[in-house]
Amino acid sequence: MINSKRLLGHLAELSEIGKNDATDGITRFSYTDVEQEAVDLVTEYMRRAGLAVTVDEVGNVIGSTPGIGPAIVVGSHIDTVPEGGKFDGALGVLSAIEIAQTLNEQQVEQTKILKVVAFKDEEGSRFGFGMIGSRAMAGTLKESHLNVLDNDGISIAQAMQKSGFNPKTIDDAKREVMDVYVEMHIEQGKVLEKANLPVGIVSGIAGPLWLEITLDGISEHAGATPMNIRKDALAGASECMIEIETLMQSESTAVATVGKLNVYPNGTNVIPGKVVFTIDIRDIDEEHRNGLEKQIISIIQQVSQKRDLQWNIRELQRVKPVKADPALQQLLSEKIKEAGIEPLKLISGAGHDAMQFGDRCPITMLFVRSKDGISHNPLEYSSEEDIALATEVFYKFIYDLVRK
Ligand code: GLV
Ligand code: MN
Ligand code: MN
Repeated sequence: MINSKRLLGHLAELSEIGKNDATDGITRFSYTDVEQEAVDLVTEYMRRAGLAVTVDEVGNVIGSTPGIGPAIVVGSHIDTVPEGGKFDGALGVLSAIEIAQTLNEQQVEQTKILKVVAFKDEEGSRFGFGMIGSRAMAGTLKESHLNVLDNDGISIAQAMQKSGFNPKTIDDAKREVMDVYVEMHIEQGKVLEKANLPVGIVSGIAGPLWLEITLDGISEHAGATPMNIRKDALAGASECMIEIETLMQSESTAVATVGKLNVYPNGTNVIPGKVVFTIDIRDIDEEHRNGLEKQIISIIQQVSQKRDLQWNIRELQRVKPVKADPALQQLLSEKIKEAGIEPLKLISGAGHDAMQFGDRCPITMLFVRSKDGISHNPLEYSSEEDIALATEVFYKFIYDLVRK
């Protein structure tokens, strides 16, 4: 049996790192001192679990059981969105460490190596480009990806260098020998709560496509410029947003979000001459998502032409949706049934490191019920009972995988 008290203790301790006491929100961006504190703590937990710890070329923290050959890889991330909660990512890493520690304490004989990974920058919050660590491990991170800048104008490559990593060696982070990749994560939606179930099996993950839109108009005097001759970039962006929202109303699984907006020069008495905003478009069906992308781009073009604004669209990231492996889903279903729970399958609307391995090896995920479906928010919550139960189910699943 896993030690849920120890796991919950780790979760509480990790959630203090990067916490804003005024809001309870946690902010841990990649390649920062605060994130390094979290890395150090997780490294210590991995060592106590009996894992040999290495840090790869991009900063993924990898705890391994002894041996060589194909590995069962279990991971998630310890970075957060701005003012995030304490479960998104952290629960996956800490539950995997707890499982490794239990296997070690029970002296379970493994035929396969277990690797627990805390991936670098899943969220993409700092650079608008996520899953840096899992992309590197899957061998799909390219040097050209490292040129994107954070809000202070620092590129991923520069941030890596400052943290002691060499951007020229990212190809060496690719791990060839992965048997399967599995991940436990909070659901971040309401499906399990509505079904009154503590856990569920992820059958597929929607793919995020992130675009950055720049609209250029003219910054002029807010008092002296008549309404009919303005080129107001913010008013144009607002019209785009409302039209995009209207377009998406008839969608069943697809979603689109404007989550980030910068207004220039951002003065009360100045007409906004420039606006930069992001759009996050997702669906489980890639073709359908790409069709929506075309319609959204056409909205931006039409609104810009009508308002005489210049527009520019930059792709930040395009991640393919993935399907989970049927055999892994079946094994996980059996473990859930053995715990006396109905094995419900569900789609993940949120992105996960698991997506990066969909082309490389079989993947699946176990979801844990989220209270009110809230996530990317300090109110994010999963109960201690659900966490304990989920980790025990996941332990039994991984027990089988490392002994096969
Ligand atoms: C990460 O949580 C994402 O889905 O963007
Ligand atoms: Mn996550
Ligand atoms: Mn997240």
